[in-house]
Amino acid sequence: MLQIVFRSQLTRLLSYTDIQRLCLVAARKNRKAGVTGFMVECGGVFLTAIEGETRDVDETFDRINRDTRHDHMEVVYSENGLERRRFGAWSMNVMFLDDDAFWQAVFGSGFSCDELLSNRALEPAFALGLLAMAYQYACVQAKMAPYPPSTKPGRIPRIGHMFRR
Ligand SMILES: Cc1cc2nc3c(=O)[nH]c(=O)nc-3n(C[C@H](O)[C@H](O)[C@H](O)COP(=O)(O)O)c2cc1C
Repeated sequence: MLQIVFRSQLTRLLSYTDIQRLCLVAARKNRKAGVTGFMVECGGVFLTAIEGETRDVDETFDRINRDTRHDHMEVVYSENGLERRRFGAWSMNVMFLDDDAFWQAVFGSGFSCDELLSNRALEPAFALGLLAMAYQYACVQAKMAPYPPSTKPGRIPRIGHMFRR
């Protein structure tokens, strides 16, 4: 399996609701394609992971690349030959990072998206770590198993699972 992690930037700000809608469309398409994934958002910047069979991920990535609602797409990390999904609970879900509860619970600090928002290239280890922490937190909150069997399709998130406070 292939996993791609990329950062991108909205070309114009969208509301939380617009982003939740975008995520639902993505989740439905990914579910059909056998792709799973997770994204975090802060100040119009997304960090997104998608994973699945190589062809399915490539096709999904091409589709995302054509979306004019975002640009400056930068692949931060990609890994081929993945043995199990790292973000297998949902076909796609989003977590908004402007959430003090998350930062306090996970890092014991206030919210800080400087790294994500800066123009510098993102460190792959930082990007994967942040996504993994956000994903684990979201799974705990939603009472979802973080590592369901790879053969199970990812779930479509409920609105209450697309965190926003
Ligand atoms: C940050 C971001 C992440 C996205 N992730 C996905 C995704 O994982 N899967 C997907 O099908 N679409 C995703 N989309 C939406 C697609 O770019 C696209 O708009 C949608 O799939 C409709 O494609 P279509 O017009 O070719 O049917 C994402 C969009 C953005 C801005």
